Amino acid sequence: MNTVLLLVSLIICASPLLIMGQIIPTRGGMSGNGTASLYWDCCIPPCADKNVVGHNFSTVQTCQKDGVTKNDPDDNANSGCQPGGDAFQCNIMQPYVVADKVAFGWASAKVPDYFPQCCMCIVLSFKGQLAGKRYLLQIVNTDKYYDEASFKLLVPGGGVGDNAPGCMTQWNTTMDVWGNKTTGVENVEQCKLLPENLQPGCRFKFEFLEGIDNADVDYQEVYCPMNIVHKSNCDYRYE
Ligand SMILES: *[C@@H]1O[C@H](CO)[C@@H](O)[C@H](O)[C@H]1NC(C)=O
Ligand SMILES: *[C@@H]1O[C@H](CO)[C@@H](O)[C@H](O)[C@H]1NC(C)=O
Ligand SMILES: *[C@@H]1O[C@H](CO)[C@@H](O)[C@H](O)[C@H]1NC(C)=O
Ligand SMILES: *[C@@H]1O[C@H](CO)[C@@H](O)[C@H](O)[C@H]1NC(C)=O
Repeated sequence: MNTVLLLVSLIICASPLLIMGQIIPTRGGMSGNGTASLYWDCCIPPCADKNVVGHNFSTVQTCQKDGVTKNDPDDNANSGCQPGGDAFQCNIMQPYVVADKVAFGWASAKVPDYFPQCCMCIVLSFKGQLAGKRYLLQIVNTDKYYDEASFKLLVPGGGVGDNAPGCMTQWNTTMDVWGNKTTGVENVEQCKLLPENLQPGCRFKFEFLEGIDNADVDYQEVYCPMNIVHKSNCDYRYE
């Protein structure tokens, strides 16, 4: 570890997380301002597909219909959101709180002037009502230039977006369980309608995120904590 990194780590270590040394900015990484919204469409993300990621890179873990049984990455299973497909989002990729005001999770990322790679990590610092809270995410979907950086955090009950049938297929539910397709379920009581294994992530929306489904953030690229890598089974390797 060089001096700069050590200093950065020491500064970061002023928070409880620093003791674990887990939020470490990359040198010259992406940073700026943007917005964060939510989704959970039950579909496997693009970064789970070898044809998107490239055969030499690891892909995000996918699961069978139960959201628990892992698919073999070498099978490059087809998305359950396509006819005949049977791979879905793993339940383990719900957001989780790791310290006071810090949560880890996954997200789709669009960043101007930069093409973020699958499985890179970024920490968002919220502004407005959520100021002081941070969300460290690993990228599961990337896109190139947009005027403003935007992140879509993978949060159950955050809205199924345009892939509405995905969650109905995976969980054999009706559509209304998942709430408005853009804004998702409206209150913590409605989380009880979701499949039981996804309810903690839905409550996260109303507890950690205080029900806010669209927030201003600033973002900074960071190294991925091992805890994230172990869950997604995807690691971005810096040269
Ligand atoms: C981000 O927004 C803040 C105000 O909220 C501003 O001071 C800062 O310059 C912006 N940073 C970038 C990189 O645009
Ligand atoms: C993947 O890695 C192998 C061995 O390092 C290399 O020969 C090959 O060109 C790489 N393929 C791609 C698509 O980068
Ligand atoms: C799906 O749900 C419907 C209505 O609750 C039920 O009749 C059906 O048996 C379920 N199908 C499966 C495969 O669980
Ligand atoms: C979903 O929410 C959006 C944004 O608040 C709203 O424009 C839309 O009408 C809602 N859709 C339904 C079906 O309620």
